[in-house]
Amino acid sequence: MPEPCSIVIFGATGDLTHRKLVPALYNLAANGSLPASVSVVGFARRDKTDEIFRRELEEAAQKFSRQKLNPELWEHFASSIFYHRSEFDKAEGYDALAKRLDELDAQRGTRGNRLFYLSVAPDQFPIILEHLRKSGLNQARKGSWTRVIVEKPFGIDLPTAVELNSLVDEAFRESDTYRIDHYLGKETAQNIMVLRFANSLFETMWNAKHIDHVQITASEPLGVEGRAGYYDKSGAIRDMVQNHLLQLLCLTAMEPPSDLSADAIRDEKVKVLKSLRPIEGADVRKYVVRAQYSAGAVNGKRVPAYRDEQNVPPESATETYVALQVNIDNWRWAGVPFFVRVGKRLPKAATEIAIHFKSVPPVLFRNSGDVLDDNVLVIRIQPDEGISLRMCAKKPGSSLRIEPVKMDFHYGTSFGKATPEAYERLLLDAMSGDATLFARRDEVEEAWKFIDAIRADWDKGDEGLAFYSAGSWGPTEADDLIQRHGATWRRL
Ligand code: BG6
Repeated sequence: MPEPCSIVIFGATGDLTHRKLVPALYNLAANGSLPASVSVVGFARRDKTDEIFRRELEEAAQKFSRQKLNPELWEHFASSIFYHRSEFDKAEGYDALAKRLDELDAQRGTRGNRLFYLSVAPDQFPIILEHLRKSGLNQARKGSWTRVIVEKPFGIDLPTAVELNSLVDEAFRESDTYRIDHYLGKETAQNIMVLRFANSLFETMWNAKHIDHVQITASEPLGVEGRAGYYDKSGAIRDMVQNHLLQLLCLTAMEPPSDLSADAIRDEKVKVLKSLRPIEGADVRKYVVRAQYSAGAVNGKRVPAYRDEQNVPPESATETYVALQVNIDNWRWAGVPFFVRVGKRLPKAATEIAIHFKSVPPVLFRNSGDVLDDNVLVIRIQPDEGISLRMCAKKPGSSLRIEPVKMDFHYGTSFGKATPEAYERLLLDAMSGDATLFARRDEVEEAWKFIDAIRADWDKGDEGLAFYSAGSWGPTEADDLIQRHGATWRRL
């Protein structure tokens, strides 16, 4: 149970607050995971009263909450929500906030503990951080704490990430800085370490001797959904690969940490990032496929081409799909390619990590005429969270026929309860002072180094951009990429 605290959300009228943050806080409250005194203070520019703000959030929570809203519980929770109107660049607004937080501490027993959540466009980060510093709000009083959560995107390349890190560093200690990567809060992502390090069965085989290759996929049927302003400048590689997918790759590839502390785990992830073979110059075309969706049909519904989406420039060369081969140059993984693919407007929503084990020697069963499928261990991050293992089995009957079968573990049925939303876990951890599921400064910077090398080649021109029909599994170039290794993408 975290200590009582005030959570100040900058950008409180925004989408994230409505869709994720407040529903997550409500679910935590409904599950009894929050201390009795938590105040949620929304800081934003529009004029409104506490009452109106609470009503708007109630409507949003009705739509987006994981658990159905219980009117009584909501009333109780809503009484801890407050609205603070101010411009982000006006010192008075922060002085008034400091006063209001002191009052709330006195009324509600929040003990001067403060969690600031920057849920605003990244160009607002510097001004808010500066004012938090100037107003002294960043300083914890004796016996209390102040922390900051920074939403993505954390920079758009290495120089901007370094600059942002320095700005954050001027106001908050690294140990009080929580850089969100919501994939780390997903239950199955957290389970990767348990699967690997609590089961001798897998860990002994988790290396180049036994593994042929790894496939990491994040596919979405959604398009840009009104976020073109942000997305067109970002593209899939910055939006998903630099953070979420590299994090999944690190959890899959890292060495066992010395203990479960935040820094021990993050040290190991940084080592993986440092071992990534840079993809640069002519190698970019060889190892990275970038593509954009053209018009097509997703789930039977016609959808326009990316370039015809609202607010997307008609000539845009932004990639909505990336497939890449990542090589990790260390002892454990030498020679084992990690194939990573991510895309929008693909046929279905699915994120998974598939470990493809090496084939058995083609000796004993070659006369059966059956092709022996390799063992594949699949970690389903979402949906239908779980783990499955494909293996070969003899088909019942007098002749020797071999077919693949699956052992399958589903979170829902094995544990009988719904998995919490990533933001529930992450908010709770930040309140409790546990940074394990947040990215450390050096992780973010190393990941940008890897991405920037690829982007440097892309920035030279658009010729390398491929196209795929919306509703397909991506461009044929991506199939060629993995076929060079003698493999094919998994059908999801
Ligand atoms: C966000 C990206 O970080 O992750 C979005 O900005 C993407 O473009 C989203 O759709 C995917 O998250 P999830 O949890 O739905 O897989």
